[in-house]
Amino acid sequence: MLFILAICISFGFSSINLFVSNNSTVYNQPGDDPAAELYPKGAKIYAEKCVACHMVTGLGIPGAFPPLKGSDYLFADKKRAVEQVLNGSQEEMKVNGANYILPMPFQVDTHKDAVAVINYVLNAWGNKGGSIKVEEVSDIKIVR
Ligand code: HEC
Repeated sequence: MLFILAICISFGFSSINLFVSNNSTVYNQPGDDPAAELYPKGAKIYAEKCVACHMVTGLGIPGAFPPLKGSDYLFADKKRAVEQVLNGSQEEMKVNGANYILPMPFQVDTHKDAVAVINYVLNAWGNKGGSIKVEEVSDIKIVR
């Protein structure tokens, strides 16, 4: 129930986010981020799956969905991020000093898709998070 509510809230906020900008790098139109050209498949997956919670801006929703833009947690372990989109995440985590407790459901079904979307978020919104290869994550088991 809380989960459904959170999704509804995030949709509400996402439309507001489209019209909000500040002086840091904010890309408000799908496709205007250079990372979308470098990682087109990842950008497409992001727009289909992740945007509902992590927002067009990658800033998430404070207190509910953590940011991917400038995320210390994301940058700390790329392989963990790939595993998370493949298998979801149920642990409490601290991202840029704030705690998040909502679970994230799994998002993609193949290692290739997981790597594509993580490489996109590692470089979107001005992120300089590097990249990861499918060979580096092939030992991750898919748990459903
Ligand atoms: C239904 C909402 C939802 C969707 C959709 C979603 N996430 Fe998440 N995401 C979360 C939540 C909630 C957490 C915190 C999970 C936890 O505490 O275990 C999280 C955490 C993360 C994290 C680690 C924390 C951080 O901010 O660095 C990454 C990376 C991430 N998500 C990437 C993605 C990607 C990529 C997609 C799309 C393929 C995606 N998420 C789709 C809700 C979502």
